[in-house]
Amino acid sequence: MPTTIAHPVAAPAAVDAPVCGPGPQARPLNERIAADPGAFRVLSGDRPTGPLHLGHYLGTLANRVRLQQLGLPVFVVIADYQVITDRTDPGPLRERVLTLVAEYLAAGLDPARTVIFPHSAVPALNQLLVPFLALVTDAELRRNPTVKAEALASRRPLGGLLLTYPVHQAADILGVAGTVVPVGRDQLPHLEIARSVARRFNERFGPVFTPPEALLTATPHLLGSDGAKMSKTRGNTIGLGDTADRTAEIVRGAHTDGDRRITFEPTTRPQVANLLTIVAELTGRDPRDVAADVGDRGAVELKRRATEAINDALAPLRRRRADLLADPTFLADVLLAGAARAGEVADGVLTRVRAAMGMEYARGGRIGSR
Ligand code: TRP
Repeated sequence: MPTTIAHPVAAPAAVDAPVCGPGPQARPLNERIAADPGAFRVLSGDRPTGPLHLGHYLGTLANRVRLQQLGLPVFVVIADYQVITDRTDPGPLRERVLTLVAEYLAAGLDPARTVIFPHSAVPALNQLLVPFLALVTDAELRRNPTVKAEALASRRPLGGLLLTYPVHQAADILGVAGTVVPVGRDQLPHLEIARSVARRFNERFGPVFTPPEALLTATPHLLGSDGAKMSKTRGNTIGLGDTADRTAEIVRGAHTDGDRRITFEPTTRPQVANLLTIVAELTGRDPRDVAADVGDRGAVELKRRATEAINDALAPLRRRRADLLADPTFLADVLLAGAARAGEVADGVLTRVRAAMGMEYARGGRIGSR
């Protein structure tokens, strides 16, 4: 099984998050990363609620691969405990987690360099939650728009786990000393809380954490075929593992508008712009140029091009995904090795946290001396 896999498509250009950086006067995160990749560590992750789709790919996965190729240490958490934030049934977790591992590797994450680990296998992350919970207020958590939206969508009373979800995520990030977090736009409120937790811990107990920064790609918010955000629960996704025929079918059914002439106008023609963005991102072109090429040939031609771009870009990834899924033992080994490495790092962070809080109980020390 090869461990080094070339990046399959042109990496989308990344843009910095507007609200989660160190302020507008600072150099953009991408420039600082390019100047000194060794000064950063990437942590990102997914909940194992089902297979990944094109929105994940363009929104964050391609960015993780790009950062790995730049030489940054990359950690990817598979947030298995967090599956039950908005549902009671965890589903077929083992199958979903191993499928995620296959998709990460198929997309170009290299297990020799990137640490892929299940949250549940790193107990230190959950220990960090205890002091972190003391650093946030319930009002802060209740007004978090992502928590609100997820609570609403779950159509259940707001549980304690969902309410404190951003704090778990802070523990995922800070527990492995992550400083760069490639995410979709919906995750920005969580990132703000992670930054507050880091700052407040430092103020209260001493300097242990670097506040993490979000890194968005140019398409942090891909639309699905019905014009709403691409998401599994809406059934409007193009799965990384879908066949070429299924992809064509979904794209054919995508909503557009009545204007035959194709132009790139994200605000007034979001669905057309979305298809243009997909083509542009996957072929390394400007969406305006793609629009000019399609011109008066209309939505049918645009969809033909989108289907072709997606199927061409994903073909090698889909082949590798299928090969990897045929070797679950290898996938489990990747996960166990990742858990061991993440455990070492998180234990080190927890030791520093305990020391900062005065929780050092080794034998031999005197009472009243520090
Ligand atoms: N909340 C993320 C999602 O639903 C998954 C996630 C869990 C995550 N822990 C994280 C993302 C830490 C970034 C950093 O997609």
